[in-house]
Amino acid sequence: MEPEKLKEEVRRLKAERQAVILAHSYQLPEVQEVADFVGDSLGLAREAQRTPAKVIVFAGVHFMAETAAILNPEKTVLLPDLEAGCSLADSIRPEDILAWKEDHPEGIVVAYVNTRAEVKALADVCVTSANAVEVVARLPKDRPIFFVPDMFLGAHVARVTGRSLDLFPGECHVHAGIREEHLKALLEAHPGAEFMIHPECGCGSSCLFLKPDAKMLSTEGMVRYAKGAEAKEFVVATEVGILHRLAKEAPGKAFIPVKPDAVCEYMKKITLEKVYRSLKEMRHVVRVPEEVAEKARRALSAMVAVG
Ligand code: 13P
Ligand code: SF4
Repeated sequence: MEPEKLKEEVRRLKAERQAVILAHSYQLPEVQEVADFVGDSLGLAREAQRTPAKVIVFAGVHFMAETAAILNPEKTVLLPDLEAGCSLADSIRPEDILAWKEDHPEGIVVAYVNTRAEVKALADVCVTSANAVEVVARLPKDRPIFFVPDMFLGAHVARVTGRSLDLFPGECHVHAGIREEHLKALLEAHPGAEFMIHPECGCGSSCLFLKPDAKMLSTEGMVRYAKGAEAKEFVVATEVGILHRLAKEAPGKAFIPVKPDAVCEYMKKITLEKVYRSLKEMRHVVRVPEEVAEKARRALSAMVAVG
């Protein structure tokens, strides 16, 4: 089917099914264009709760659809391709949490939303990159904290809050690949540009050493910042899918990717064709067993309430 016809069919089926399409900012431009809402992990989790629609097509990765399903057991959540996973979420197992808890019975487990439901079920609170600092800053000062699974985000949170955190050594392969040398080259070529860096990036504190006024932001934070800032040129350190949204929402400004091949192949599993098939065949339904969902819901409810 021609792309324009496909978009038309998606819109028709969406109305017929009384469905909404929620898309992450790393999705392909044509998928973002048919979405009712495009946002970061926190915005998407909240929108899934807010929408009166009974069917949610989640154009994102599995843990995001799972989060929506946990928070909204009465809604049908569809993921157009079950292979849309996440290397970061796959890096940690429930056993890793249980082992730490055994050594720290009084400890607090903070799980990044990029985790599987079974891991969230063992966490005390979940966070996204948009509210991790705020959530951790509010935790009791006298108890040990295990931050899982992204060590770069964890190090950023520890730096900003001044809290000492036990970090799990997990990483996102896309962001971990964004290194100091990529940034260095652009610093010289664009001396007047503002730098926006996702806290999952592998350069972490060395990026801040090179560019102390760089902004560490979630994807939504980047869009908001670019819209409001005076600057006309921005260097962007994250997955390149965000560039479509930035160009659309902050027109007239230039956005330079730190690493043009920073592409998440999992996010790109979702195509317009698959969104169409998902609506047509009502697949793939993402469900979480209630005994896991019930525990994970507590940690997720604390997450959506902050920031
Ligand atoms: P945010 O959109 O929440 O910043 O997360 C980035 C990410 O890597 C999602 O997989
Ligand atoms: Fe996971 Fe990284 Fe892809 Fe985000 S960009 S979905 S963290 S693999």
